[in-house]
Amino acid sequence: MFKSVVTTALSAVLLICTSAFAAEPIVIKFSHVVAEDTPKGRGAQLFKELVEQRLGDKVKVEVYPNSTLFGDEDELQALRDGKVQMLAPSLSKFDAYTKQLQVFDLPFLFDDLEAVKRFQKREKSRELLRSMAGHDIYGLAYWNNGMKQLSATRALKAPADAKGLNFRIQPSPVLEAQFAQIGATTSKMAFSETLTALQKGTVQGAENPWSNLASQKLDSVQPFITETNHGSLNYMLISNSKFWISIPYQVRTQLEAIIEEVSFKVNQDAEELNRKSREQLVAAGRAQIITLTHEQREAWREAMRPVWQRFEAEIGADVLRAAQTVNRL
Ligand code: LMR
Repeated sequence: MFKSVVTTALSAVLLICTSAFAAEPIVIKFSHVVAEDTPKGRGAQLFKELVEQRLGDKVKVEVYPNSTLFGDEDELQALRDGKVQMLAPSLSKFDAYTKQLQVFDLPFLFDDLEAVKRFQKREKSRELLRSMAGHDIYGLAYWNNGMKQLSATRALKAPADAKGLNFRIQPSPVLEAQFAQIGATTSKMAFSETLTALQKGTVQGAENPWSNLASQKLDSVQPFITETNHGSLNYMLISNSKFWISIPYQVRTQLEAIIEEVSFKVNQDAEELNRKSREQLVAAGRAQIITLTHEQREAWREAMRPVWQRFEAEIGADVLRAAQTVNRL
C-alpha cells in the first residue's frame, strides 16, 4: 500500500516536472542590423510569424532589427557565445572565418541577382554554407538583398571621378581592393555608423543596394547615386552549430522547412523591393540618380576587374570558376 502511494506520488511529481519542462519553448533571438522594411527585415519577420503559427508552443522567435541587440562589431561573437541564436550577416562580414565567401564580393562577377541565385544553388555554394562549422557557425540558407550602387558627394560617371574619395565599406579585403583600383581610400565601418560618418564627412561615399539607401535615408547626405550594379549584397542565415543540433529532430526539421519557405520568398521579393526603393528615392528627389551607358559601365568593369585575379588563390580557383559559369551568355 505504502509503496503504491509513493509510486503514485512520484509519478505525479514527474508528470508535473515533465509538463512544466515541455511547456518551456525554445527561444530564438534573431538579431540584425537593417530596417524592418528591407529584404532581410521582412524575412526575419516572416520567419517569426510562420514559427508562431506552426510551432508556437514549442519555439518562440524574438526579432531585434536595426542593431538594437547586437551590431556588426559583436553579433558574430554573440552568436558563437550563445547570446543570440540567429543572424543574417552580409557575406562580406565573414572574413575572419572563411576566405571563400569573398567570391560574392568580387566586382562585376555576377551580371544580376538571377545569376547570384543560380550560383547559390550550385554544389560549391552549398559547400560554403558548411565551411564555418569549425567556428560554431552553421549556415542555413542564402538570403539576397540586391545589386549595389555607388553613392557619393560628387557625381561618379567615370572611375577617375572617385579618385581621392574615402568610401565606407564592409570589412572585406575585396571591397578595399575594389576601391583602391579606382584611386579611392576606404574605411571599414559598421552599418549602423554609416549615416553619421557620411553626415560628418569622415567618409564621402558608400555602396549599397537601393533598399538600404532608401531605408537609411542615405540620400539625405549623398547627393549623387550612380547606378553601377557593380556587385551584389547577399546574406547567410546562420545559427550556432551546437544550438541548432541540440533542437529536437522533429522541431528542427519543421524549422528547416519554414526556413526554406521564407528563403524562397525573400529571394523572390528582393528585386521588387529594391525596385520600389529606387522609385522612392527618385520621387524624394534629394539625390541625383546617374545611369551609365554601356560604354561607361564597361570602363568601371575594366578598372575593377583586376581584383578577381588578386583574390583567386584565397577564394579557390574552383569556386571562382563555378561562379563564372552562371551569367547568361
Ligand atoms: C552593410 O553593412 O552595408 C550591409 O551588410 C548591411 C546589411 O546587412 O544589409
